[in-house]
Amino acid sequence: MKNGDKVLGQTMQAIEEKAVDAEKKVRVGLIGTGWIAEAHVEQYRRFPDVEIVAMADLIPGKAEKFCKTHGVDPASVHFYPDHLSMLQNEQLDAVSICTYNMTHAECAIAALNAGVNVLLEKPFTVTVEEAAEVMRAEKASGNILSIGFQPRMDPNMQQIKKIVESGALGEIYYIQTGGGRRRGIPNSTFIEKKTAGLGALGDIGCYSLDMVLNAIGYPRPLTVTGYTSNFFGTNPLYSRPDQTHSAEENAARFDVDDFAAAFIRLEGGIILDFRISWAMHLDTPGDTVILGKKGALRIPSTECWNGTVGGEMTLYTDVAGLQTETRIPILESKKSLFEMKVRSFLDAVKTGGSAPVPSSQILYNQAIIDGIAKSAAEGREIEIVIPEV
Ligand SMILES: NC(=O)c1ccc[n+]([C@@H]2O[C@H](COP(=O)([O-])OP(=O)(O)OC[C@H]3O[C@@H](n4cnc5c(N)ncnc54)[C@H](O)[C@@H]3O)[C@@H](O)[C@H]2O)c1
Repeated sequence: MKNGDKVLGQTMQAIEEKAVDAEKKVRVGLIGTGWIAEAHVEQYRRFPDVEIVAMADLIPGKAEKFCKTHGVDPASVHFYPDHLSMLQNEQLDAVSICTYNMTHAECAIAALNAGVNVLLEKPFTVTVEEAAEVMRAEKASGNILSIGFQPRMDPNMQQIKKIVESGALGEIYYIQTGGGRRRGIPNSTFIEKKTAGLGALGDIGCYSLDMVLNAIGYPRPLTVTGYTSNFFGTNPLYSRPDQTHSAEENAARFDVDDFAAAFIRLEGGIILDFRISWAMHLDTPGDTVILGKKGALRIPSTECWNGTVGGEMTLYTDVAGLQTETRIPILESKKSLFEMKVRSFLDAVKTGGSAPVPSSQILYNQAIIDGIAKSAAEGREIEIVIPEV
């Protein structure tokens, strides 16, 4: 049994003892009322078994304005200037944490310690130490913590895992993954370390890592050689103005990565070759490929942060001595990925089920991201140390 499975097992036992009464409405609070909070509220509003009772944001008046523009009656909501005051004053069943990356850990720990179930936006945290600290709070509280990776709900993403699990590829030894944008640097709170902590590596890198690591069962990462750069974000030629900053000001604010690459060794002798980009002089750094001893899978260069694969996948195998290629048709999703992400979390809260995207898996995702950042800073290969939870 892997360490992550053991932790998950203990957490599950505690969760089953704390399931919310299925007849009652789930009392939900929102921490952070920025851009992505809109997608959470849109879903919560659709479900008759949910009451949005509280909202917190550090920016005065922002949550109140958010309510008005997103169809929530402000009279039915209590507003707070931060997560702590909300958690101290409300009896909540669940919170969505929609804050920037640097406050993910403190908000999640406070919510779990207050006995509240947590849907935490991606990336899990900024460092692996923070992720482990959140998991300790999860374990101690017995509450549900699910990390907001909605691409997990996509049937094409799920097909990748099914193909691997079918044995069609045999033993896997090499994976190339990542993706990138030629130009696609976000603005706002994403470009400064003090709020985002990480750039493209954390923002979209976490998705491409999850796509392949989830498919192969999240083996433990062992070592990493990482590289990061920010030649585009810091250059006014390539940065963009926003409502409050000129392009020059945004270039001066920019202190995170806009490109990252890494060579990672995973348990089981698997090599992971990774690259991610918010900006570069190239359309794509290539397809995702999974090489096994019996077959290989090509996943067309994917904007997997948009939730799905970039086109029909191809399975390469030898059949009776003939080299064959099988096209894997694109599967349509009947529901929105965000609906399934929020609903599966609520169902887990109501039934005492398991977290749809468990922290025990995403701990390894975060360890790789953190390892890339640390290795890049030190300019050498480093061992990935997974803290005890
Ligand atoms: N799943 C997805 O598809 C997706 C898409 C975009 C962003 N995200 C993630 O969502 C998070 C938020 O992104 P965003 O674009 O909404 O950012 P944002 O900057 O627009 O909003 C974040 C808000 O959180 C508030 N905040 C920060 N710390 C707080 C605290 N302690 N208490 C209360 N409020 C606090 C800020 O004041 C801000 O209003 C990021 O981690 C990002 O990676 C996920």
